Amino acid sequence: MTLTPVLTAHWDDKDSYTIGGYMRHGGYTAFKKAFAQGPDDIISLVKDSGLRGRGGAGFPTGLKWSFVPQNDGKPHYLVVNADESEPGACKDIPLMLANPHALIEGIIIASFAMRANHAFIYLRGEVPHVFRRVNAAIREAYTAGYLGKNIMGSGFNLDVVLHAGAGAYICGEETALLDSLEGRRGQPRLKPPFPAVAGLYASPSCVNNVETIANIPHIVNNGVDWFRSFGTEKSPGFKLFAVSGHVNRPGIYEAPLGITMRELLEHAGGVRNGHSVKFWLPGGSSVPMLTPDLLDTPLTYEDIAAAGSMLGTGTPMVFDETTSVVRAVAGWLAFYKHESCGKCTPCREGTYWISDLLHRLEEGHGTESDLEKVVELCGQIAGRSFCALGDAAATPFPAALKHFRDEFVQATTTPANDTFNPLAATVFAGATR
Ligand SMILES: Cc1cc2nc3c(=O)[nH]c(=O)nc-3n(C[C@H](O)[C@H](O)[C@H](O)COP(=O)(O)O)c2cc1C
Ligand code: SF4
Repeated sequence: MTLTPVLTAHWDDKDSYTIGGYMRHGGYTAFKKAFAQGPDDIISLVKDSGLRGRGGAGFPTGLKWSFVPQNDGKPHYLVVNADESEPGACKDIPLMLANPHALIEGIIIASFAMRANHAFIYLRGEVPHVFRRVNAAIREAYTAGYLGKNIMGSGFNLDVVLHAGAGAYICGEETALLDSLEGRRGQPRLKPPFPAVAGLYASPSCVNNVETIANIPHIVNNGVDWFRSFGTEKSPGFKLFAVSGHVNRPGIYEAPLGITMRELLEHAGGVRNGHSVKFWLPGGSSVPMLTPDLLDTPLTYEDIAAAGSMLGTGTPMVFDETTSVVRAVAGWLAFYKHESCGKCTPCREGTYWISDLLHRLEEGHGTESDLEKVVELCGQIAGRSFCALGDAAATPFPAALKHFRDEFVQATTTPANDTFNPLAATVFAGATR
């Protein structure tokens, strides 16, 4: 399957991030079409397109927008989730660096559809260069009259605020994000009420991922049939697949949903020279690992679920045979332990104990009963935690044990060893994390 650059089409233009560069390729025409159609028609269009959220869960975007009650007299808010902290995920930050105006035009259309007059972009604070770039783009859009009061004489007002978080994985969870945005400590809220009913400042709100929103101008300009000509019935469209790990050319490959991992690997120059795939993860560290016999599985929400994993953020990580699976899983668990917000006991205590036991195994001091203890702890966390971070923390170990039990047993006597640091697999050439 060939690559289909849509969001990435002009990223190598020298001025791709300026308003001039964006408009040279038809930028800022979609929102005028949207204004001519009206909010309800835009919600229907996005529903019909079948676009699914690119933040990890794959929830249908148009349906989510339709949950925001209309004409209720309350302020509505669109909140763009630009926190991107999942190990392995690196697509939203490059998108904002290369083409921030696609995000801004998407925000105008989405806010118009939901009758929101304020939109926020919640960006992780460790990327000041991205902050500066998005801020400059917002200023350009105000100067052009595309943001602010009575946009292009339409009567629609929209202000966009860029907010820098302090850098916490949990602040990507949508309700923790809302608390953080309100100035509180970023911890998840009890649901219901869902953000569509009582979100930011207790008003109807919608939280969407950067890539999700950047799709919107293309759908408005090109229509439902065009969008559905990519991908599958249940996973329409194209996706920024950020391939990292032991490949020759790590980077972002934009392709229709349904491309296989083997095809993506070919685009990424294959596994680094002389090596072969040991395991791979389709969408960040929070999804179960898969083995090389599943490389021909189409990368869609439904096919990856049937194969026993999740598409997640669609940012595959590839590990070759030099990798210690024990060390890789211990590395991820150290991350989840560090990022657990501490609000609920299963995750706060469980990630601590699992990380400790895995570290012992990594050092060659564990016992076989530790393996059963970790399985039990994962069972105590999954489905019993307050938010999905706990479920994510309980995911890597059971899948790794299923496929590589011998290696874990061996680790009870021999320190784990590999020729590479698993955390390095999350670092892309040319991207900062
Ligand atoms: C711990 C945790 C971290 C998350 N981090 C992000 C993130 O950085 N970006 C993101 O878009 N969604 C993230 N999500 C998912 C959001 O809660 C939410 O589902 C998403 O922003 C919705 O956008 P979408 O419908 O466009 O996919 C995270 C979820 C959890 C549980
Ligand atoms: S699951 Fe973890 S991150 Fe989520 S609320 Fe509980 S302690 Fe916090």
